[in-house]
Parts: sequence; C-alpha cells; structure tokens
Amino acid sequence: AKVRNKKMIKKGIILSGGMGTRMSPLTKAVNKQLLPIYDKPLIFYPLSILMLAKIKDILIIVNKGQLNQYKKLLPDGRRLGINITYKEQVAPRGLPEAFIIGEKFIGKNNVALILGDNFFYGQYLTQKLLNCVKLKKGASVLLHKVKSPEKYGVAKVKNNKITIIKEKPKKYVSDLAITGLYFFDNKVIKFAKELKPSKRNELEITDLLNKYKRQKNLKADYIGRGGAWLDTGSLDDFYKTSNFVSAIENRQGFKIACLEEISYLNKWISKKDIRSSIKFYGNCEYSNYLKKVIA
Ligand code: TTP
Repeated sequence: AKVRNKKMIKKGIILSGGMGTRMSPLTKAVNKQLLPIYDKPLIFYPLSILMLAKIKDILIIVNKGQLNQYKKLLPDGRRLGINITYKEQVAPRGLPEAFIIGEKFIGKNNVALILGDNFFYGQYLTQKLLNCVKLKKGASVLLHKVKSPEKYGVAKVKNNKITIIKEKPKKYVSDLAITGLYFFDNKVIKFAKELKPSKRNELEITDLLNKYKRQKNLKADYIGRGGAWLDTGSLDDFYKTSNFVSAIENRQGFKIACLEEISYLNKWISKKDIRSSIKFYGNCEYSNYLKKVIA
C-alpha cells in the first residue's frame, strides 16, 4: 500500500483570498470564505474535499491582514490530523499566483488546487477524487454540465482530452463548466511563472490550462449528474448553497463537510482528538454532532 500511496498527490492548496466584491458589504470586514454556509464557515467545504481526497498537507492562501481570523478557526490542523500552513496573497492577482506563492510548499510534488468558494457534493465524489489524485503527468480538471455556460469557463472534450477552453463564451462552445478543483503536475510552477497578466491585470487560469492543452496533456473528468457543484460567488448562489446544505442535513441527519468526521473515518484522528474539538467549539450543534460521531 505504501508504494501506491507514494504516487498520489499529497499536497493541496486552498485559494481563500479574493475581495468578494459581489458580496459587499458582507465581505468588507470579513473574508467571504469565513462567512457561513448554513452551519459552518464556507472554507470547511473545500477543505473537506481535499481531506476526502486523502490530502493531508494543505496550504491556505489568504488575503493580507486576514491571517489572524483564519488561525482562530483553523490553527494548524493538528486537531484534524492534517497539516495546515498559511501564506498571504498581497492582492488578488489571479488564480495561477497560487503556484508562485506556493512554490516552496509544493517542492518537487504534484499538487491539487481548490478555490475557497467552491462547493462540491454528491454520490461517488470521493471515489472520483481518489482517482484524480493518481495524476502523474499533465493536468486534470473536473467538469460539470451547467444551464448557463456563458457565465463560466467552459471546455470542449474529445476522447477524454480537452480540445477547446473558453472563458465566458458569448457563442456556444460547450455546456461543460470548468469547476474550481484542479490537479497539476510539478510543471505548474514553471508554467505559472511564464504567464503574463491579462487585460484585467490578473494571471488567468485559462492561460495556464492552455499551456497543458497545447501539449495535449489536459485531461477531463466529470462530476456527473448525481453530483452538485455550486459556485458561491454571488449573493444569490451563496444563499442557495446554504439552503442546499440545510435541506440535506436536516432531512438526512448527517453533516456535509464535518472535518473531524472525515478525519476520523480516514483514521487520521482518535476519539480523544474529537473530544478536544468538542472543547474547542464549545456547546453548539456542531459539537453535539461530533458527540454522535464518537458515540
Ligand atoms: P473570484 O470569484 O474571481 O473573486 P472573489 O471571490 O474575490 O469575488 P468577486 O468577483 O465578487 O470580487 O475568486 C474565486 C475564488 O478564488 C475565491 O474563493 C477567491 C479566490 N481568489 C484568490 O484567493 N486570489 C485571487 O487572486 C483570485 C482572483 C481569487
């Protein structure tokens, strides 16, 4: 088992900065990823996705000045059986900057990137994730069919390889949106450094993906119709996601993105660790749930 493990992606980055302009004034004093999606901060959801992918070594990139807030919520990961480190992004200069900021963290490894405001849920998702982290060479993205492709970056696929990528296409190209979860080989650092800022003065993820595409090294996987992908960037989408979580949790009685539960099921932490989490959160509904997890 050790040998097989060696080849899997073990490092993940959560890009958790951004100005959250579309959600102002909510985001004036508090970063978007710290706002609640129903019963937990938004950042729990992308973090849970990396943990489901068995990624334990995690870099969270936050805005300058937000570090203290984040550390109150997620100090260093020890309680969760993971290793969390932080880096600041001076200004939101684009998604590929994650690989420049994260160069040291990535080292010689391959890496997963998830956007701090992306929500994934669904049947077979864990299996899919465990398949994605097997990536050895190139890059791979997760696609999801959407009703309004003109709002997203989309991809056209032929024989499992992406042939066209287009950001917010005015003319129909495909209805497969590129979600905010990406898997890259180590070349991503070099490629990110080669990028030039776009007209809006950002490094663009589309340009980065295009570098892999040109080398015929950009693969696609799908979340599938049994799964949900919600981008929580607008106020409306934010509350829709919150409602989605509330509906599922209240009907079925389990929680989405309970970090301790995932870690416990991964056998990364013990009951004792969960008891210390209960102490950390205090007397609340989340703690009551944790008590049930170890009952
Ligand atoms: P965006 O949706 O592009 O930006 P935003 O979240 O700041 O919102 P708005 O457009 O309303 O201003 O970002 C997607 C995610 O990536 C979000 O979680 C913030 C994060 N991000 C960074 O951390 N750094 C960056 O440079 C960019 C562009 C985004």
